[in-house]
Amino acid sequence: MNESSPEIILALDLEDRQQIKNVLDKTDERLSWVKVGLQSFLRDGTPLVHELADSGKKVFLDLKLHDIPNTMAKALESLAGLPIGMITLHACAGPEALARCSKFAKDTMPEVTLLGVTVLTSTNQEGLEATGVKGPIDEQVVRLANLAVNQGIGGIVCSPLELPRLRQVLPESTTLVTPGIRPANSDSGDQKRIMTPREAKGAGANYLVIGRPILAAPDPQSAFNAIWEELNN
Ligand code: C5P
Repeated sequence: MNESSPEIILALDLEDRQQIKNVLDKTDERLSWVKVGLQSFLRDGTPLVHELADSGKKVFLDLKLHDIPNTMAKALESLAGLPIGMITLHACAGPEALARCSKFAKDTMPEVTLLGVTVLTSTNQEGLEATGVKGPIDEQVVRLANLAVNQGIGGIVCSPLELPRLRQVLPESTTLVTPGIRPANSDSGDQKRIMTPREAKGAGANYLVIGRPILAAPDPQSAFNAIWEELNN
């Protein structure tokens, strides 16, 4: 059982910068983390990250880097100095790339937590086998999570249903970040492997990535408050 409450990270999956500003204007400072993914970063670039940081938010940059070791390390070098707190890379990039990235981050951006992405939640058993990987998905998730952590990667992004298993096998200090969160009675959308905020807390999550349950709510602040209350009271 996780003692402390996980933090909420709002996924800024929105069409433009104005929409991002509008939703942030409607939420208060208890929302301290936001996630910038490829959609927003490729469109708005580093100025968006600076703007968010200047407004007091901590930024999780979800770029899911995956390339040869040198290119991944150089990509991190290009991001050094950006005001971010977490960034994702694919664990299947392999031990050398992960080790290079974690060494670079420790030396140059020690305040940034690198997060390993294991098997994307959009991948099913058939899709995994089509890439040549045999065996159950959850074994591949554990294999990649161990690989990442053994190379010094500080955290893992996982589906909520993988939390209990990963909490069992990974060092306690590993940061676990999970999307696929739906408050009770809310619309699950395209997310299938879901948990409520409270369930994910009990399963050991440190951070909950939440998008549509807040973004699509008539009143984003009330939606945030309800989730916050569920986690903290
Ligand atoms: O709107 P929703 O709460 O489903 O948003 C979840 C966020 O987490 C989205 O930005 C989505 O891309 C991201 N994500 C996910 N599943 C993963 C990895 C990231 O839903 N395995």
